[in-house]
Parts: sequence; structure tokens; C-alpha cells
Amino acid sequence: MSIVALIISYLCGAIPFSFLIPWSKGIDIRKTGSGNVGGTNVLRTLGPKWGSLSILLDILKAFIPILIIRLIFGVDSWITYLSLITLVLGHDYPIFLKFKGGKGVASTLGGYFALSPMLGVIFLLVWLPVELTTKYVSLSSLLGLLITAILGYFWDLKMGVTYTILFLLSLFKHRSNIKRLLSNSENKTDIIKILAK
Ligand code: G3P
Repeated sequence: MSIVALIISYLCGAIPFSFLIPWSKGIDIRKTGSGNVGGTNVLRTLGPKWGSLSILLDILKAFIPILIIRLIFGVDSWITYLSLITLVLGHDYPIFLKFKGGKGVASTLGGYFALSPMLGVIFLLVWLPVELTTKYVSLSSLLGLLITAILGYFWDLKMGVTYTILFLLSLFKHRSNIKRLLSNSENKTDIIKILAK
């Protein structure tokens, strides 16, 4: 039963919505913008409608299965937390795209809403002002994940450990963004302006 939950989680995470939506419009998202298979890059490339849909689907592909797994195994079970890690690994390393996926932010957020909705809200409360002031989505995402990982320990030890692993995984996936941030050459993306279009 546990192994089934892990396999289903990986396969749900591996559904590459942020690749499939641009691909249905004749665009290979891996060759445009930042090249990342993620909702932010779809927003940049295709605008608010398809970008928001990609982000929403990337959140839901984590939220729905993790909520179901939580209901079956309980919020205290390691299987529930391992399922979220496996799901985000599916998003970051999808079998359907030769293991080249995104950076796991939307999928992690979907998991937060399934396991600790308050931390999902706190993530957004960190993400939004940082994005509004710096226009760096990568920095906003990493700060949001870092702060929620730390706060996770106040909810539950397993949660803190899991969210720390997810933060470290996302840190690794953002390594090119970090290099650009350090050299002052990171892409500035005015998400609010794009969404208001
Ligand atoms: O969610 C990914 C985001 O933090 C950075 O995306 O396209 O700017 O590398 P991107």
C-alpha cells in the first residue's frame, strides 16, 4: 500500500503541465525564457491565462493526491511526507521528459495546502512582498520555502524535516538562478504586471 502511494505520487508529480500547455500551442518551454519547465516561465512566454493555468495545475497535481494520501495514512505518517517528497521529485525529474523538469515550487506549495494550509498562506505572505519589491521570482520562492521549512518544525518534526528537504531540493534546482542573483543578472519578472494584463 505504501509503495503504491509513493509510485502514484511520483507519477502525479511527473505530469508536466507546464510543458504540455505550451507544447499544445507549438512552443517548447525548455527552449524559451529561462528554459525552466515551470509556471513562471509559462507566464513569461504565454501570458497570464496559460501561465496561471500551468501554476494552478502544478499546485493541484500535488494538492489532490497528497490530500488523499493524508486522509488514508494520516498527517503524522512518514508515508504521507515521503509521498510529498516523491511527488516533488516527480515534478523536478519527470520520467516523461527524460528527467528534466522544473524547480518544484508550485508542487511543494500544493503539498503545503494539503498538509499545513497555514504554512501555504505564510509562503504566499513571504513570496508576494519579496516578488513585488525585487521582481525576482526565484528569490521570493526560495525565501518562502526557507521560512516555511523553519516554521514547519513548530508544527511537527516530520513536517520540518520534510519541508527542509524540499527547500534544499529547490535550492539545488535553483542553482543557476542563484548564480545569476549573485552576479546581478537574474531575470526580473513582474508577475503582478503580467497577471494584470
Ligand atoms: O518556480 C520557479 C521560479 O522560482 C524561478 O523560475 O523561470 O525564473 O527560473 P525561473
